[in-house]
Amino acid sequence: MFSFKAVPGGGDIALIGESITKGFDNKKLFENVSFQINRGEKVFLLGSNGCGKTTLLKILTGETEADFGEYKFGANTYWGYYDQIQQNLHMDKTVLDEVWDEYPKLTETTIRNALAAFLFRGEDVFKEINKLSGGERARVELVKLILKSVNFLIMDEPTNHMDLESKEALENALCEYDGTMLIVSHDRYFINKLADKIYHMDSNSVVCYNGDYNYYLEKRGNVQSAELTAKKRETSAAVDYREQKRIESEKRKRQTKIKKTEEEIAVLEEEIRTLTLELENPSIASDYERAMELSNEISQKNSELEEKYETWEMLQEEDK
Ligand SMILES: Nc1ncnc2c1ncn2[C@@H]1O[C@H](COP(=O)(O)OP(=O)(O)OP(=O)(O)O)[C@@H](O)[C@H]1O
Ligand SMILES: [Mg+2]
Repeated sequence: MFSFKAVPGGGDIALIGESITKGFDNKKLFENVSFQINRGEKVFLLGSNGCGKTTLLKILTGETEADFGEYKFGANTYWGYYDQIQQNLHMDKTVLDEVWDEYPKLTETTIRNALAAFLFRGEDVFKEINKLSGGERARVELVKLILKSVNFLIMDEPTNHMDLESKEALENALCEYDGTMLIVSHDRYFINKLADKIYHMDSNSVVCYNGDYNYYLEKRGNVQSAELTAKKRETSAAVDYREQKRIESEKRKRQTKIKKTEEEIAVLEEEIRTLTLELENPSIASDYERAMELSNEISQKNSELEEKYETWEMLQEEDK
């Protein structure tokens, strides 16, 4: 069994951001984003499509510059970055060589064990990169990242290209990983399995939920249920017949809405499945433009799906 280890070292704080502000073309994307990520924490950055999550990660990795604000990695903190679109693979190499050439000092056994943890077993390691699907390529990139001498993984939607089995392999590897991580994701199962702390980005800034995914849902639910309690109080005071009718009609409307939302969720899930299958196709995976388009589309649909789930949960809550 192979276990991924972070390089040792680093102080208690892995990364601090203060008042980070960024916009494009005179339009503010986010403002005064501040956060603290402690060593060993598994932190997720959530938020709707296009709110600026990738941009924030690119600021942290030095690819983009912030308009205002500062950030600082802790002493002896070394980060590695997994991009939303990966194009760092050598198409004519085998899976084994792709990884081994990057880490020539590691033994073949170590490399093969690492690859096995990401589901490349036996003859799979001799497949050429150009024959791999998008999901398989993502797994090769992840093996390369996770073998790096770093202790802070920064990842942008790593499960985007992945089927269920690959996701589970990644979850298991990350569960065991003893370093720090900051991950952007729309994948609620993935977040649920790993998150220690969640930052939610909205149209202005970020809010910190210092707990796991259930804590985050509960807290966000609370914001909504305070409004609901007020509504319920109102309804118990309603005595006359017309008011009763109105309540019943609202309930019916809500039921219709719940049903409609469930149908929309099913359609979105099917669309995501189809797009992911297309992305899995090796010929598409070599077509950078198309892969990028598909990846963006999947990302957008995942974000819509997340919103639908939230609507559905809220409607259920109202219906109680
Ligand atoms: N270099 C750039 N120049 C101009 N606008 C940009 C640039 N980079 C990003 N944007 C815009 O900033 C916004 C945020 O983009 P970003 O990719 O950070 O969002 P995101 O939260 O990662 O979205 P997604 O969930 O789709 O991945 C988008 O409207 C995008 O078009
Ligand atoms: Mg993004």
